[in-house]
Amino acid sequence: VSILVLHGPNLNLLGLREPEIYGSLTLVQINKALEIDAQRLQANITCLQSNHEGVLVDAIHDAREKHQGIVINAGAYTHTSVAIRDALAAVRIPTVEVHLSNIYTREEFRHHSYIAPVVIGQISGFGGESYRLGLQGIITYLTNLH
Ligand code: DQA
Repeated sequence: VSILVLHGPNLNLLGLREPEIYGSLTLVQINKALEIDAQRLQANITCLQSNHEGVLVDAIHDAREKHQGIVINAGAYTHTSVAIRDALAAVRIPTVEVHLSNIYTREEFRHHSYIAPVVIGQISGFGGESYRLGLQGIITYLTNLH
């Protein structure tokens, strides 16, 4: 099974960026941990980060016929992007939404996710572990239900 891991805007700055909210792990460290998990779970992963909405939309389109599942932290686009939601709905690839922080305990504008209605489930609030839980979740979903 092959999974696309998508990181949205500002996540390239993880480790430096508001560590009291997002933790001290860098994106490279998170991706490395996911690689190790994927090997153990006999899955392949491709990780991609972009600060550009259209690049994320293109990556979702290109996932067709390459990946069976998506793990996405859309960052701030979570709260703004109809385009990313529509792309996920269009390709119909089972997706898990992840957030490092608990978006529901933060500012009100973070409480709404445009992508939540088109994903299998959401993991929010476990720091870098959110990605690992999301990856495990999507692999379990794909191997047990499909
Ligand atoms: C985030 C939460 C978003 O509200 C924020 O804009 C981010 C990161 C998270 O992982 O906690 O960039 O998605």
